[in-house]
Amino acid sequence: MSKKLFLLPGDGIGPEIMAEVKAIIDWMNSAGLAKFETDEGLVGGAAYDAHQVSISEGDMEKAMAADAILFGAVGGPKWDKVPYEHRPEAGLLRLRKDLDLFANLRPAICYPALADASSLKREVVEGLDILIVRELTGGTYFGTPKEIVTLENGDKRAVDTQVYTTPEIERIARVAFELAKTRRNHVFSSEKHNVMRSGVLWKEVVTRVHAEEYADVQLTHILADNCAMQLVRNPKQFDVIVTDNLFGDILSDAAAMLTGSLGMLPSASLGAEDAKTGSRKALYEPVHGSAPDITGKGVANPIAMIGSLAMALRYSFGMIEEANKLEAAIAKVLADGLRTGDIAAKGEATVGTKDMGAAVLKAFQASF
Ligand code: NAI
Ligand code: MG
Repeated sequence: MSKKLFLLPGDGIGPEIMAEVKAIIDWMNSAGLAKFETDEGLVGGAAYDAHQVSISEGDMEKAMAADAILFGAVGGPKWDKVPYEHRPEAGLLRLRKDLDLFANLRPAICYPALADASSLKREVVEGLDILIVRELTGGTYFGTPKEIVTLENGDKRAVDTQVYTTPEIERIARVAFELAKTRRNHVFSSEKHNVMRSGVLWKEVVTRVHAEEYADVQLTHILADNCAMQLVRNPKQFDVIVTDNLFGDILSDAAAMLTGSLGMLPSASLGAEDAKTGSRKALYEPVHGSAPDITGKGVANPIAMIGSLAMALRYSFGMIEEANKLEAAIAKVLADGLRTGDIAAKGEATVGTKDMGAAVLKAFQASF
């Protein structure tokens, strides 16, 4: 059966890096490795320039009907004066909300060829492979009350509220345990139950889900501040880290930077499982933004976008072997010394987006 892939390149460098992913998808189809039915839409600045909205209703419908969405990047100074509700970022927020993408997967993998690009010592980061599972639709960023009020004496008082319910914690915990089973079978659950009531509930629910459904997976509870320290001190001890929206935002950025450049980092956002089909809504995108400073120059690193396709193969289509081979192809071109500007050491020769994409595709083809 063919699978529906909906491509939303966006604006900025989005279309440039998506072109390299399209070439890989086209080759997989023509080589008979997959039957992807692809369609393409406009989002962010690209949608605004065409329709004065951040995503059209027609493209929202296609996104809802797709088996997976590949998203490039959006945003930039060109759209700074656009009305708030039509700003490029609004398109991405609408997708996340309407598809109920509650599980954000942020891998931090250190390729041996780039271990010297890390700010930490090679022996601390070489071979590092962490997956952070961040709850994305609850917690402090969405809890109410959320307000700034002026007090009688003229002082102001600001409130954000951390809220989590049992079902919200259960579903993110299950995602983390399921993923751990496909990796090194170890989940670290991170909260601050020592000072937060939501942390007490988080720990209690994760402990119960573990005992009832995943007793064969190793579970370690770790306070979020200690987790941050351990990420920098001894990151290789981690496999899967599951945490809330706020701590996950910070811990995933810290973990990501252990590995070098923004241009290398893919991500996935997963929705709830459909009870009938077992499939889930999913959006895959690089962690980086639209990089207006290098847009149109043909120098953007396409690896984060290609890595996002590898995640889609693994998590939406069960194509584990193909996903592994695509990631191995990335590792191979890096080992061969190919570098875009963002990952090149001083004085090292660089290649552009197209050459990097073509080299990864060639290495991928050679692995079949
Ligand atoms: P950015 O990630 O776009 O760029 C930060 C720096 O990293 C820039 O110097 C850029 O050239 C470089 N960079 C990023 N991706 C690269 C790649 N693939 N290859 C080589 N170099 C790369 O973040 P910035 O500058 O803070 O934001 C620019 C715009 O992107 C803003 O409008 C922001 O709102 C938006 N943005 C969008 C995101 C998304 O679409 N999910 C995420 C983050 C920011
Ligand atoms: Mg962040």
